[in-house]
Amino acid sequence: MEKDVIIACDFPSQEATLAFLERFGDERPFVKIGMELFYGAGPDIVKKLRDRGHRIFLDLKLHDIPNTVRKAMRVLAAQDIDMVNVHAAGTREMMAAALQGLNEGTPEGRKRPYLIAVTQLTSTSPQALADQLYISRSMEDTIAGYARNAKEAGLDGVVCSPLEAAAVKKACGQEFLAVTPGIRYPDTGADDQSRVTTPERARQIGSDFIVIGRPITAADDPVAAYHKARREFTGK
Ligand code: C5P
Repeated sequence: MEKDVIIACDFPSQEATLAFLERFGDERPFVKIGMELFYGAGPDIVKKLRDRGHRIFLDLKLHDIPNTVRKAMRVLAAQDIDMVNVHAAGTREMMAAALQGLNEGTPEGRKRPYLIAVTQLTSTSPQALADQLYISRSMEDTIAGYARNAKEAGLDGVVCSPLEAAAVKKACGQEFLAVTPGIRYPDTGADDQSRVTTPERARQIGSDFIVIGRPITAADDPVAAYHKARREFTGK
């Protein structure tokens, strides 16, 4: 898949999501369905957006014992999605089980969705990594290590901050995907995000996909905000 911007559709209902996407006219941005929308609208939202022609990243961040994750992935694979994820903190065994479930559940003739792993949430600061998660290695080392685990488990890439995309590529190769939320402009606040940068900088560091929520969804003109981010990130 080509580099692109993914819009985080963090809305509580199908109605709110469709009203937002209506503003894009015939354009069909790559969208992310996260916990709020999936739990609020139910699994039907996936089919609804797929039928409209959107590519979909289902961001449910599974993290449980391997058998549970494997079976959940088998069910999710029946949905027609492009990308899905787990937490790398669940271990290599859990990630391998997720991949197995996804392979088992993907219908004949359909491409398996990309499976990626969250390394450290982009809201986690280096301070919180040390003080609350009790990880004494640096953020970059931790992320590179989690990315290597994900690669060894057979995954396609990781979720990290754009600031760490180069370290991930160095550890796992250029083909290994770096999907990066934590996108902000210098003139706006970071909200609850900690490790942030701009779309242009994300491209320079090596992100494959940038995930943007509030800077687009809460903008006065979300379509213009999306086009600006896309221009800066893909050059198109
Ligand atoms: O509004 P904002 O641009 O901060 O949205 C970022 C989106 O990316 C949210 O939906 C959040 O759940 C998701 N995300 C993240 N950090 C990760 C993984 C996913 O912010 N490591």
